[in-house]
Amino acid sequence: MSGERIRIVEVGPRDGLQNEPTVVPTEVKVALIERLAAAGLPAVEAGAFVSPKWVPQMADTADVLARLKRRPGTSYPVLVPNEKGLERALASGVEEIAVFGAASESFSRRNINCSIAESLARFRPVCATARGRGLKVRGYVSCVLGCPYEGHIDPAKVAEVAAALVELGCYEVSLGDTIGVGTAGRAKALIERTARDVPLARLAVHFHDTYGQALANVLASLEAGVRTVDSSIAGLGGCPYAKGASGNLATEDLLYLLEGLGLDTGVDFEAAVAAGGFVSDHLGRAPVSKVAQALAGKAA
Ligand code: HMG
Ligand code: MG
Repeated sequence: MSGERIRIVEVGPRDGLQNEPTVVPTEVKVALIERLAAAGLPAVEAGAFVSPKWVPQMADTADVLARLKRRPGTSYPVLVPNEKGLERALASGVEEIAVFGAASESFSRRNINCSIAESLARFRPVCATARGRGLKVRGYVSCVLGCPYEGHIDPAKVAEVAAALVELGCYEVSLGDTIGVGTAGRAKALIERTARDVPLARLAVHFHDTYGQALANVLASLEAGVRTVDSSIAGLGGCPYAKGASGNLATEDLLYLLEGLGLDTGVDFEAAVAAGGFVSDHLGRAPVSKVAQALAGKAA
C-alpha cells in the first residue's frame, strides 16, 4: 500500500455546511472552497441543487459557483436529486454532479421523498442527460452500515444499489455510513460483499464519526483495496434527515493517518489545517478534528 495515491473527496462545504443551524454566508463558502482547492484537494464538493425548502443552507449554490475561481484540474461536484436539480447545475456550468440514493427504504423517503426504485428511475434521465453533456456523475449510497429508522441494513442491498448506480453511468459510488455506526470489521465485510458486484476501483468510502470509528473504518477500507475516501474539513457535517448523524471524518485526521501510512494524497497538510481553522473561526468553535486540536494545543 505504501507510496500509493489516495484520492480525497472533500465534502465539508456541502455535507458539513448543509447541517449548520445557521446559513453560512456565500462569501465564506467561496473562500473555504478556494482554500481547500488551493491546498491540493482534487475534488471539493461545492454545494447541492436540492430543494431550498428541504435544505435552506444549500440555497445559494448557484451564487457560490458563480463567484468561485475554479482551478484547472480540481473538480467541484454538486449534489443533484432530480431533473430540476440537473437543469440548475447545467446553468451553473458544473462539470461533475453526484446523485444520491440509499440502501434503506425509510431513509430514502425521508431524504428524497421517494422509494429506492423510484429514486433510481429518477436518476436514469439525470445521468443520461448529464453524461450526454459531458459531465462526470458520481453516486452515493446512504445508510450502508445502518439506518436511523430501520437499524440493520443488508450488505447485499448496498451492493445492489451501488451496482444500479454504476449501470446508470456513475464513474464511482461512495458508500456512506450516514449515521456513523459502522465498525472496521463490518466496513471490511461490506466492501468485500459490494466488490462482488462493483469493481473495487469504482468504490469510495464516506464515514461519519458519530461513534469515533471513522479512522478505523478507513484503515479497514484501505486494507480491503479502496483508494478513494471522502472527508470533511474540521469534521464539519451530518445530514439534516438523519437524526444523530454527527460530523464526517475530519480531513485533517485522515491526512495524518494517510501520511503516517506513507500514502500520497497531493494535499498540503498545513494548508488544509489552515482552511479548517478558517471555517471554524467563522463558526465560532474549535475544529472537531483531534489532529487540528493537538496542533493548536502545541502552538499555544
Ligand atoms: P419533493 O417535495 O418530493 O419534490 O422533494 P417535488 O418534485 O414534489 O417538488 C416540490 C417543490 O420543490 C416544487 O416547488 C419544486 O419546484 C421544488 P414548488 O412548486 O413547491 O414551489 N424542487 C426543487 N427546487 C430546487 N431544486 C430542485 C428541486 N426539486 C424540486 N432540485 C426533493 C424531492 C428530492 C427535491 C427533496 O426531497 C430534496 O431536495 N431532498 C434533498 C435532501 C438533501 O439534500 N439531503 C442531504 C443530502 S444527502 C446526504 O447528506 C448523505 C450523503 O452525505 C452520504 C451519506 O452520508 O450517507 C450524500
Ligand atoms: Mg454524508
